[in-house]
Amino acid sequence: MRALPLLLLPFLATPLLANEAQIAKGQAFAEANCARCHAVGTTDHSPNPRSIPFRFVGRLYPIDYLAEALAEGIAVSHEMPEFVLEADQVEPLLLYLDSIQVR
Ligand code: HEC
Repeated sequence: MRALPLLLLPFLATPLLANEAQIAKGQAFAEANCARCHAVGTTDHSPNPRSIPFRFVGRLYPIDYLAEALAEGIAVSHEMPEFVLEADQVEPLLLYLDSIQVR
């Protein structure tokens, strides 16, 4: 029975690693697609001052609320281009946003 915790270790560790990879993917997506207007990091300023820094988006609404908007086409205003994200892009972006929120 003593060996059990060790046997379980790989299964416990995998989701954490997967999460890190997802977050990194989300960060790369934000940097490539959103950073020319929004601050996408933890201390930077938005290049376009009317674009909310991503670390404060959670103050507008829970991050999860964005899932639908991103998948169906987020069109906030005429100033912001419309984005339609693939399902496998939404989850990483949300995980990344969640990881940088200043609450
Ligand atoms: C060309 C500039 C530009 C780009 C690129 C851009 N945005 Fe925006 N975004 C804006 C502006 C400007 C606003 C504020 C619009 C307003 O309040 O009318 C905004 C607002 C938002 C908001 C807040 C919506 C709300 O309810 O107030 C979210 C969330 C958002 N953008 C997400 C994104 C994501 C995700 C990306 C990348 C996939 C992105 N934006 C790329 C300009 C941009």
